[in-house]
Amino acid sequence: MDKRFAVVLAAGQGTRMKSKLYKVLHPVCGKPMVEHVVDEALKLSLTKLVTIVGHGAEDVKKQLGKKSEYALQAEQLGTAHAVKQAKSILADEKGTTIVICGDTPLLTAETMEAMLREHQEKGAKVTILTAVAEDPTGYGRIIRNENGDVAKIVEHKDATDEERLVKEINTGTYCFDNEALFRTIEQVSNDNVQGEYYLPDVIEILKNQGETVAAYQTDNFQETLGVNDRVALSQAERYMKRRINKRHMQNGVSLIDPDHTYISPEAVIGRDTVIYPGTVIKGRVVIGEDTVIGQNSELENSTIGSRTVIKQSVIVDSEIGDDVTIGPFAHIRPDSKIGNQVRIGNFVEVKKAQFGDRSKASHLSYIGDAEIGTDVNLGCGSITVNYDGKNKFMTKVEDGAFVGCNSNLIAPVTIGKGAYVAAGSTITDDVPGQALSIARARQVNKEDYAKNKHKK
Ligand code: UD1
Ligand code: CA
Repeated sequence: MDKRFAVVLAAGQGTRMKSKLYKVLHPVCGKPMVEHVVDEALKLSLTKLVTIVGHGAEDVKKQLGKKSEYALQAEQLGTAHAVKQAKSILADEKGTTIVICGDTPLLTAETMEAMLREHQEKGAKVTILTAVAEDPTGYGRIIRNENGDVAKIVEHKDATDEERLVKEINTGTYCFDNEALFRTIEQVSNDNVQGEYYLPDVIEILKNQGETVAAYQTDNFQETLGVNDRVALSQAERYMKRRINKRHMQNGVSLIDPDHTYISPEAVIGRDTVIYPGTVIKGRVVIGEDTVIGQNSELENSTIGSRTVIKQSVIVDSEIGDDVTIGPFAHIRPDSKIGNQVRIGNFVEVKKAQFGDRSKASHLSYIGDAEIGTDVNLGCGSITVNYDGKNKFMTKVEDGAFVGCNSNLIAPVTIGKGAYVAAGSTITDDVPGQALSIARARQVNKEDYAKNKHKK
């Protein structure tokens, strides 16, 4: 196989987005557009991938990190000028160079492979990925000659009324013979409505030089959607969501309402897991089998075991075991590790806390900076008092301990193995294992108090 290279164009500001955020960093299903593009391109066994950065260069580099090499386009003079910036990295190479726009997030490696096959078979110097758009407004149009061969691409703004009727569009994705690309790119002029150096002009130049120009038409326009504004961004979001959700359903996950279930591209979900509407799964989330994720739950960068039930809850940067029930309305904050068969009930907040197997905090608790052993019962309203305004302190509740309702555990403090804390206690000192600690004022009943008061 020929060596393969890729150039991803990502230097534009994206004026039409009307945003502080650079266009290619706008997320689709939680992942920046340009990263979707780069991740797909990386599936093509590339020797090098170069991203052209300009506006927001540092932010784009930070996002993509080592996935790409970078070339700076200091001034955005057009897509041909953008590709030219990769000259020092690519111009001496022999092989095939794929050029992709950073604002076409739905494009798949399969489609690019199909374009590459066509390119190979035709022995072309350039192959354009085209699609038929119901509404081609804004896209470059593919102009074919009487034999049906591609003659040139005309930008929407430069097109005649007749050319604008053409529905076959340039998707902005091409593969080139690398040497031909860097040779002809020097010949592109900026003599057009926008005064820009257009990459698509390379096609007409090559054609006029008698080179073979090929086109691969995909029947999936959605996949080639170019995102220039927020309307297109919302369409991209919808298509990507459908694609992700379909994949999970085909893998054996039940989505009760896939139109209202939002799953990140990285999520991994086991078979027979059921996800109810309004659930948002962000970042790297791994969910086991036979788990039920209740409606309107939000899971982010977390691992959830099998046979666990999560209802109307928020879980961030945490690990949840098997056979656990969480919620409704629980909040599991970062660095929490919940064992197996644990129960975290309604209005319980957990932060940076470990729960051993079979432990429970069933109602109305705050458990932060804590190590809870196995088989512990934290009664309704148990609170770890972990913060003195400056520093955070640890609470330890050892295996089998029972903390009565409405107890304050003032950290640092340890409740020993199998100990009891009486309801309403404010615990400031360690409780030895097996002990009962009562830390509350004694009850005083004043007989006939009310009767006497009313008499006065
Ligand atoms: C471009 C194509 C058009 C095609 C459409 C597909 C050109 C001239 N037109 O139009 O034929 O139908 O994509 O979506 O190529 N960029 C740079 N540097 C620049 C200019 C642009 O890096 O100087 C980057 C942008 O960040 C963007 C990509 O190139 O990711 C495409 O630029 P954009 O301005 O969106 O081009 P379109 O008008 O959509
Ligand atoms: Ca575009």
